[in-house]
Amino acid sequence: MALQSPRPTLRSFGTPTWGGLLLLVFSLGWTLPSMAKTADTGRGVTTSWLQRTSQAQQPELIVILPRALQGTEKKACPEGREVHTVDEELVFYEEWELEACVSGALLAEQMDQVNAVPFTHEQLDILKHKLDQLYPQGYPESLIQNLSYFFLEVTPEDIHKWNVTSLETVKSLLKVSEGRKTDPQVAALIARYVAGGGQLDNATLDTLASFPPTYLCSLSPEQLGLVHEDVLREVRPQDLDACRPLQMDVLYHKARIAFRNVSGSMYFARIKLFLGGASTEDLQALIPQNISMDLATFKKLKKEALLPLTIAEVRKLLGPNLEGLKAEEGNSPVRDWISRQRQKDLDSLGLGLRGGIPNGYFVLNLSFREALEGGSHLLGPGSAFIMIPALLLVLILN
Ligand SMILES: *[C@@H]1O[C@H](CO)[C@@H](O)[C@H](O)[C@H]1NC(C)=O
Ligand SMILES: *[C@@H]1O[C@H](CO)[C@@H](O)[C@H](O)[C@H]1NC(C)=O
Ligand SMILES: *[C@@H]1O[C@H](CO)[C@@H](O)[C@H](O)[C@H]1NC(C)=O
Ligand SMILES: *[C@@H]1O[C@H](CO)[C@@H](O)[C@H](O)[C@H]1NC(C)=O
Ligand SMILES: *[C@@H]1O[C@H](CO)[C@@H](O)[C@H](O)[C@H]1NC(C)=O
Ligand SMILES: *[C@@H]1O[C@H](CO)[C@@H](O)[C@H](O)[C@H]1NC(C)=O
Repeated sequence: MALQSPRPTLRSFGTPTWGGLLLLVFSLGWTLPSMAKTADTGRGVTTSWLQRTSQAQQPELIVILPRALQGTEKKACPEGREVHTVDEELVFYEEWELEACVSGALLAEQMDQVNAVPFTHEQLDILKHKLDQLYPQGYPESLIQNLSYFFLEVTPEDIHKWNVTSLETVKSLLKVSEGRKTDPQVAALIARYVAGGGQLDNATLDTLASFPPTYLCSLSPEQLGLVHEDVLREVRPQDLDACRPLQMDVLYHKARIAFRNVSGSMYFARIKLFLGGASTEDLQALIPQNISMDLATFKKLKKEALLPLTIAEVRKLLGPNLEGLKAEEGNSPVRDWISRQRQKDLDSLGLGLRGGIPNGYFVLNLSFREALEGGSHLLGPGSAFIMIPALLLVLILN
């Protein structure tokens, strides 16, 4: 659950005094996510708006199970320190006191106050821990809609437990996330909302366009159709890892439009991330351009699109990268493509590829093999025996 930041955390500096802490923080040039404290008063006047409203450099989300919790869980709340309302006094509570004196229910009820008080990272960790204890199955939607800046404290794993049905909630959480490195959280939020049947409106899609497109594979094909073209120019390979074929189809078509003003090898460099949505005809159209497709791209092609390509076409498509086929011969979709080729023709490539149609045999209908591999369990155990004679129906050509 920890998103470890490469930056030093406050904890690694021991326990500085307030003044020392402040100097340290500002000399490092970054602000605590919910603490900006005036140095002169020692206690009392606190402001959090500085960080809340700042779109400047933000610290990454640091989520660490508080060390303070270890061994302190059992301590009782000292007399006179009981907490009935969330206010700035809590900033001066020791971490173990927060653990002992604050209830998750109070935090959930007064979330707006939690956001108004300039707690330190460590204190927020403890408060989050209290909420997580209260809601081990995930926060209720009534709390999620009031989270506001506290959203920056939750992890994608937390969010995947949530039910989010309100577009207003999505919008409010996107708003607090803007300008921060929270794209995994945003992707998780969108995934939960879409999984619950939620529809994104154009305004929300526009807002999303300002985040790294980690969320793309969470969108339905229909919603992907509404994504702005600019988003496609920002896509990184890992953003598409979770996309399913129908999503890739939509993305490929959008990408073609987005990159229509790019030509030659630049076009291929841009479109190749999306070729998992390309048809056989699309691939055939790329062949004359001598693109020398890399194997990483080749093995992400749609199986149905790849299978009809001839050996000559694949040779041309891959160019000098053809040798890479050998390493992929056991993996789909390369394996499936190989199984459609005559072994004699594969041998002519000189790569030692195995698994083609044996020399001298001609299989009448290749889909029998697929039916046997993929469908026999549906037909029941006896069907394999019925199919075998059919498979043996091969013509010996010579
Ligand atoms: C959320 O905030 C609204 C308005 O501040 C409040 O009426 C409501 O009770 C809050 N919900 C929860 C679960 O605290
Ligand atoms: C989410 O909804 C499901 C189905 O209604 C329910 O079983 C589950 O408890 C809900 N989870 C949360 C965290 O509210
Ligand atoms: C949302 O955007 C799509 C595509 O850009 C457009 O066709 C549709 O009319 C827009 N919907 C609204 C409500 O503006
Ligand atoms: C293509 O169009 C986009 C958006 O209009 C622009 O950002 C990009 O620079 C253009 N590319 C080329 C090669 O003209
Ligand atoms: C591709 O290569 C062939 C043969 O080397 C050449 O004739 C053709 O002009 C090339 N096509 C492009 C678009 O570079
Ligand atoms: C092979 O048979 C299946 C049905 O068993 C059929 O759908 C398919 O079109 C046939 N393929 C060819 C190439 O004849």
